Amino acid sequence: MLEPFYCPTSVAVVGASQDETKLGHAVLKNLLECGYEGKIYAINPRGGEILGVQAYPSVQAVPGEVELAVIVVPERFVAPVLEECGRKGVEGVVVITSGFREVGGEGLKKEKELVDIIQRYNMRMLGPNCLGVIDTICPLNTSFARGMPERGELAIMSQSGALLMAIHDWAIGEGIGFSRFVSLGNKADIDETDLLKLWDDDPCSTVIVAYLEGITDGPEFMKIAQHVSSETPIVAIKAGTSDAGARAVSSHTGTLAGSERAYEAAFKQAGITRADSVEELFQYALAFAQTPPITGDRIAVVSNAGGAAIMATDALDRANLHLASFQRETIELLQGELPPGSNALNPVDVRGDADAERYRFALDAVLRDENVDGVIAILIPQAVTKVDETAQIIADVVHQHDKPVLACFMGKNLAQIGVKVLREAEIPNYSYPEPAVDSMRALVERWRWLQKPPRTAEPFDVDRDQVRKAFAAVRADGRLKVGDAESREIMEAYGITMPQSQLARDPDEAVAVAEEMGYPVVMKIASPDILHKTDIGGVKLNLMNATDVRDAFDLLMYRARRYMPQANIWGALVQEMVPQGKEVIIGMNRDPQFGPLLLLGLGGIYVEVLKDVSFRIAPIARWEAEEMINELRSATLLRGHRGEQPSDLKAVVDCVLRVSQLAVDFPEIVELDINPLMVQEEGRGAVALDMRMVLS
Ligand code: ACO
Repeated sequence: MLEPFYCPTSVAVVGASQDETKLGHAVLKNLLECGYEGKIYAINPRGGEILGVQAYPSVQAVPGEVELAVIVVPERFVAPVLEECGRKGVEGVVVITSGFREVGGEGLKKEKELVDIIQRYNMRMLGPNCLGVIDTICPLNTSFARGMPERGELAIMSQSGALLMAIHDWAIGEGIGFSRFVSLGNKADIDETDLLKLWDDDPCSTVIVAYLEGITDGPEFMKIAQHVSSETPIVAIKAGTSDAGARAVSSHTGTLAGSERAYEAAFKQAGITRADSVEELFQYALAFAQTPPITGDRIAVVSNAGGAAIMATDALDRANLHLASFQRETIELLQGELPPGSNALNPVDVRGDADAERYRFALDAVLRDENVDGVIAILIPQAVTKVDETAQIIADVVHQHDKPVLACFMGKNLAQIGVKVLREAEIPNYSYPEPAVDSMRALVERWRWLQKPPRTAEPFDVDRDQVRKAFAAVRADGRLKVGDAESREIMEAYGITMPQSQLARDPDEAVAVAEEMGYPVVMKIASPDILHKTDIGGVKLNLMNATDVRDAFDLLMYRARRYMPQANIWGALVQEMVPQGKEVIIGMNRDPQFGPLLLLGLGGIYVEVLKDVSFRIAPIARWEAEEMINELRSATLLRGHRGEQPSDLKAVVDCVLRVSQLAVDFPEIVELDINPLMVQEEGRGAVALDMRMVLS
């Protein structure tokens, strides 16, 4: 369906111009000079000849077929030109013209009009407001960028045309090649997911690089990205991560979530390597493109400078990578060959006077070691260092092995000559140890991701009808906030345990309920309008007898009225007192792009202060819920710290999975917090003490 965009048999440039200052001139020139072998047509109302190509007054007037049309006419002419393309049977259009959705107001309507036209004629459209497409394989260049990048193995898509221009220019300077180079523009039709589908199994692209500002269909993107990245690494920048989509939220999860967290979770789950800058984007992309896949996380460092080796070691530790422990033979080999003052253990120090041969020996020895999965080779040019020769030898050794080696030639002046050799030999090089380690981490994280089991959510036996009824009751009452009684029904329907609890409308009833339940009891304000009860002293714990219960009832009613005189107060909930355990929060916030964003964290009243939380997009598999626990700083506390009994983590996982299913089953839930989930010792379960839910 998207073939016209990368190997069309004919291309028309609508708005081609004699005038060298116009984009329509630049596009035609690029097309003519890129080596494209299909038919090229220039379209200009004046006819004549442009850059040696006969110009036709309209697309309709072209004698042959037109498969792809590149549109560079002023905004007011775009819709009529599209109509004409449709009638002509054009299959794809690249609309470079701007002035549509990106300008807001009327622009939105105009863009909608373009979409209506292409749908009517079954055409596909890239843009509007884009730079065009460059394909070095075809080759094809329908952009107005200056020059053509080299042929390479990176496929890049970008939502910013201007940034793509900068990347284009920089890549030409750095000699970095691309297979496909696509500017998405406003994504009125073709979007990032379409391109991922197109580049799935693309034999010409070994890495997909993306600059994204927003994602059109989050769940679909995740599904496709996950599939594609199991074969081809995807490295992406997501710009604009401040929370534009944030809205007034009343839950803890809502406050802690937000679009940045959702992207982070979605990219992680889909196996996308996330970069925070253009520099990182290409550092990671080249590491993927130019090294064999890593198969472990044990890294060796070979360096001619102790300080740099220590910095690399520190960075490895921060990046959660392991400094490889060499096999005995490797250590003996290195000890036998390296001069006194060297270090034969990892990080290997070949000494400041190392020549190229010493590097060859050390690098070869560590690459042969079965305990080593990847190597960082550091060189600081010193008095006797032969930078270019060493670079060449490093390249030779690297190409004899099947493990990733990232070079780090430090310095700007003397190092340059070696950097050039490495670049030509396609060995990724970094100016400092830290970015080299960052790229190594990216390789390892992808390997770790590839080891993970399938993301299959296990279904629980639940009672959806009971939840539907509870929601109907909330709505019938003119509310969106779910009250305590309904919360209880919903939790029960999804197999989440809550403490025994009963509403009491007056102190006598409270005492009766407490006596029936057995002391000690807990009492809470029962009101659909008061959400954060603890904040106003609306919860009384450990009530031991009838007097305590009566006093608590009066106090709670007084506090509720004083805090919110207009609140609808039902009375007080009398609850069984659950034994103290570890407090955990489990929540869900519906993200506008990706849907249900699950949260797990250390719970209680400090959750927003400590922010010890982890996120995933639902639905999730059991192992993902376990990963959420492992990501918490407080996981150690839950596992039992200093002789404490371990908490019932299985019950936590179970609860996260049930919330995941609830969130997926009922898209009308916009926010949900279980806080705290009181987790008992291993084997004793977990009880949701409080639940808050808001419907759309
Ligand atoms: N069919 C064919 N040709 C036509 C038609 C038509 N219906 N209507 C006009 N033309 C011709 C014009 O006669 C002109 O040719 P000429 O020089 O021989 O007279 C040519 O098309 C261009 O028309 P102009 O009116 O001269 O328009 P101009 O070139 O100034 O601007 C453009 C057109 C470039 C599309 C402009 O409207 C625009 O959108 N510019 C912004 C483009 C942009 O930045 N896009 C985003 C890129 S991504 C990024 O940010 C880098």
